[in-house]
Amino acid sequence: MRFDGTKSYIATEDLTVAVNAAINLQRPLLVKGEPGTGKTILAHEIAAALKLPLLTWHIKSTTKAQHGLYEYDAVARLRDGQLGDAKVKDIANYIRPGKLWQAFTSAPQKSVLLIDEIDKADIEFPNDLLLELDRMEFFVYETGQTIKAESRPIVLITSNNEKELPDAFLRRCFFHYIRFPDRETMERIIQVHFPDVKKNLVRDALNAFFELREVPGLKKRPTTSELLDWIKLLMSDDISAEALRAKDVKTVLPPLHGALVKNEQDVHLLERLAFLSRREGR
Ligand SMILES: Nc1ncnc2c1ncn2[C@@H]1O[C@H](COP(=O)(O)OP(=O)(O)OP(=O)(O)O)[C@@H](O)[C@H]1O
Ligand SMILES: [Mg+2]
Repeated sequence: MRFDGTKSYIATEDLTVAVNAAINLQRPLLVKGEPGTGKTILAHEIAAALKLPLLTWHIKSTTKAQHGLYEYDAVARLRDGQLGDAKVKDIANYIRPGKLWQAFTSAPQKSVLLIDEIDKADIEFPNDLLLELDRMEFFVYETGQTIKAESRPIVLITSNNEKELPDAFLRRCFFHYIRFPDRETMERIIQVHFPDVKKNLVRDALNAFFELREVPGLKKRPTTSELLDWIKLLMSDDISAEALRAKDVKTVLPPLHGALVKNEQDVHLLERLAFLSRREGR
C-alpha cells in the first residue's frame, strides 16, 4: 500500500515519504502547517488514492475522547422504558459507536481515519486516546465487549498548533510539517484547481501574492486556500494580468483583496504602506 499523491492534490516528495512511513509503521501521522495548506484535504486524497473509506472526526472544544469510542444513550433507553418497548432489555441497542469504533470495525476493508484539528479539544484529549490509538482496541463497559481493530486504520491527525500536544502522544505519532509551498509548487496547485487559467494571470497573481506575504507586520498572511479563492474571483471577473501588474501591491491594494486579507488591521497597514510608497514615488 503506497501513496503517491493524486491528480487533484500536489504532494511534495517529503510529504509522500511521511505518509508512507506512517502507513508502514502503522502509527498515526500528525500533520501540522499553516491554515489552508492542505492538511484536511490530504486525508481525503489518501483515502481516494488507496480506494479506502474515509471517516472524519472533527474535533471541537467540547469533544471528549469517549465520543470517538462510543456513547451510551441513556435518555433514549429511559424513554423506551416508559413506553414499554422490549428493546430496553438489551443495553447494546443504546450504544452509539463513535468514529474510532467505526474505523476499527470497517473490515474487511481498512479505513482512513481523520482526526481533524486535535488542538481544538482540551489538553487531556490526546492523552485520553493514547491507549486506544496505540493498541487500536478498547473496552465497552456497558456490554462487556472488546472492540479491536482487525486491520489497523490509517490515522491522520491534524493540528493548527493552538495548543502544545503532550510528549507521550507525540511519541506515538509520525510527524510531518507541511511547509508553505514554494512558487513552483504553488503553480502546480493552481494548475490542478484551474487547468484553464491563463499563464500570465498566474504569474502576476503569484507575484502579488508572495509580495503580500512578505509585507512585515501582517497579522494574518494569506495562504493556499485564500490564493485559490482569489484566482477564482480574478478569473470569473475576467481581470486581466495587465490590470494586476499595473496595480503593484506596494502602491495600491490588489483588486478583490477581501479574498486575501481578512482583517481590518491588515487592510489599514497595506493602505498606509501604499500611501507612503506613492508619496515617496512622487
Ligand atoms: N497540495 C495541494 N494540492 C491541491 N490543493 C491544495 C493543496 N494544498 C491546499 N490545497 C487546497 O487548499 C484548500 C485548503 O485545504 P485544507 O482545507 O485541507 O487546508 P487545512 O490545512 O486543513 O486548513 P485549516 O488548518 O484551516 O483547516 C483546499 O481547497 C485544497 O484543495
Ligand atoms: Mg483543516
